[in-house]
Amino acid sequence: MKNNYPKPIIILHWLTLCLVLIAYFSSGNPLHDKIWGQVHVMSGLLVFAVSVARVATVYCYRKQLPHNKIISRYQEKLFKLVRLVLYLSLFVVPVMGWLALSSMTSQFDLYSMQLPLAGLTTSNHLIGEAHQFLGNMFIFFVGLHAAAALAHHFIFKDGVLKSMLAKNDK
Ligand code: HEM
Ligand code: HEM
Repeated sequence: MKNNYPKPIIILHWLTLCLVLIAYFSSGNPLHDKIWGQVHVMSGLLVFAVSVARVATVYCYRKQLPHNKIISRYQEKLFKLVRLVLYLSLFVVPVMGWLALSSMTSQFDLYSMQLPLAGLTTSNHLIGEAHQFLGNMFIFFVGLHAAAALAHHFIFKDGVLKSMLAKNDK
């Protein structure tokens, strides 16, 4: 039986990982560091855009998603909870970043194009701090999710990790 995610979902899953890692490692105040600031904002906005495409793709392929073997009800609940947190973060973290940027400046040029902002300019650092906290929590959950995927592969020796890789026809 074919037990892998459809190719478009696999591509969008690993593309998201690359963009999130770029956004995380280029993070900092985009107004202070010109080059890394551009990279951070661009990759963060792309995370949002790719996630919109991803939700639409998962919906289109909903009848072809693999049913990986469930070890226990507890494990299934945990998987669903982490998946929900990851999906929420993919949208909430970039939006909070955009609001944080809007609270710091009234104009931001992204690769010579003016980025539309929310016009919130204030000396309040709370939005920036919330974005920073949620960004770090996001990476924590990504780590948890990746550790679970590796545990499936190396400890439980099932096909869960392979279901998110290109080939896994059983
Ligand atoms: C998945 C996407 C993103 C992740 C994981 C992320 C993560 C982070 C992290 C961890 C920080 C804190 C860095 C530090 O000072 O130690 C940060 C700062 C910041 N990010 Fe993002 N970010 C993302 C997307 C965005 C986007 C799309 C924007 C703007 C459109 C943005 C704007 C900012 C701003 C303005 C700060 C500085 C906040 C402050 O110093 O108060 N981020 N980001
Ligand atoms: C930004 C980083 C990541 C995010 C946001 C993310 C998100 C997700 C989401 C939402 C799913 C559910 C399927 C879907 O709706 O697309 C999923 C499945 C999966 N992910 Fe990730 N993931 C990330 C990184 C990783 C990493 C680093 C690994 C492996 C080391 C991994 C391995 C898997 C596997 C094996 C599945 C299939 C799980 C199953 O069906 O039981 N992911 N991921």
